[in-house]
Amino acid sequence: MAEPTPHGRDTYDLDEVTPLTPALPGLVSVARTRDQLLDAVAADLIVHAKNCVRTFGDVHIALSGGSTPLPLYERLMYDPNLRSFPWTRTHLWIVDERCVPFDDSRSNFGHIKDIVVDHSGIPTEQVHPMMATHPDADALYENELREHLGWREKGQDRLDWVVLGMGDDGHTASLFPHHEALDETVRLVRKCTGPFVTPPDRVTMTYPLINSARFIAIMVTGAAKAPTIARIARGNPDPHELPITAIRPLAGELKWYLDADAAVSPITL
Ligand code: 6PG
Repeated sequence: MAEPTPHGRDTYDLDEVTPLTPALPGLVSVARTRDQLLDAVAADLIVHAKNCVRTFGDVHIALSGGSTPLPLYERLMYDPNLRSFPWTRTHLWIVDERCVPFDDSRSNFGHIKDIVVDHSGIPTEQVHPMMATHPDADALYENELREHLGWREKGQDRLDWVVLGMGDDGHTASLFPHHEALDETVRLVRKCTGPFVTPPDRVTMTYPLINSARFIAIMVTGAAKAPTIARIARGNPDPHELPITAIRPLAGELKWYLDADAAVSPITL
């Protein structure tokens, strides 16, 4: 028989061990599994969306592409507990887009349309794809945002919920390390081109727009991202090195949703 541990137990079941919570700016939720992470984000989102509809009559959500949030979008469609999501009162915006047609597999809206738009019952006029191949895509999208959010009273004219992912290099949305778009303080949407941008060219929401949101959810999964999470947790990184660190809501909430693999870096152990 194995020697009992000092805590009176023979073995530890890893599933029972609470993963470490890195010290990130904002609230941090660490899930043991990706499935539990999706539960947590979806549960927060539906409560928040219903509250916004109760208060304002509608809810404006902005969705990112990349692979991390796609299972969340799928969950929103098939989970019976989420059937009461107020899709008919939802405006759906896109955080960033690659300058490719929607039927290109790299198009964020292409995926979001297939998963959400085509199955949620959201009215077409409340769906706001970025026309990223248009030469004035940034100005057009900014105007569309101002027009729709302008119905709200001053101070409430902001996105209600934004979901972001994070690249291994610390980029978020299409805000890449060392790109001049990181210094934008006025415009809400910008084109991102040039050597610092992973091709193809992009159009992205900027810090001023994202940081004005009522709730920002950052989803990060997988061990490949753990070293970047550890760098952020060590504090005071330069946003030009790690753009996600300039995501700081002005008058809203920021919540990180991590799985255990992303939360624990070998560097921190
Ligand atoms: C995109 C995103 C981008 C993404 C990160 C993480 O359109 O690709 O907006 O910022 O969130 O690159 O991507 P993964 O989730 O695929 O790791």
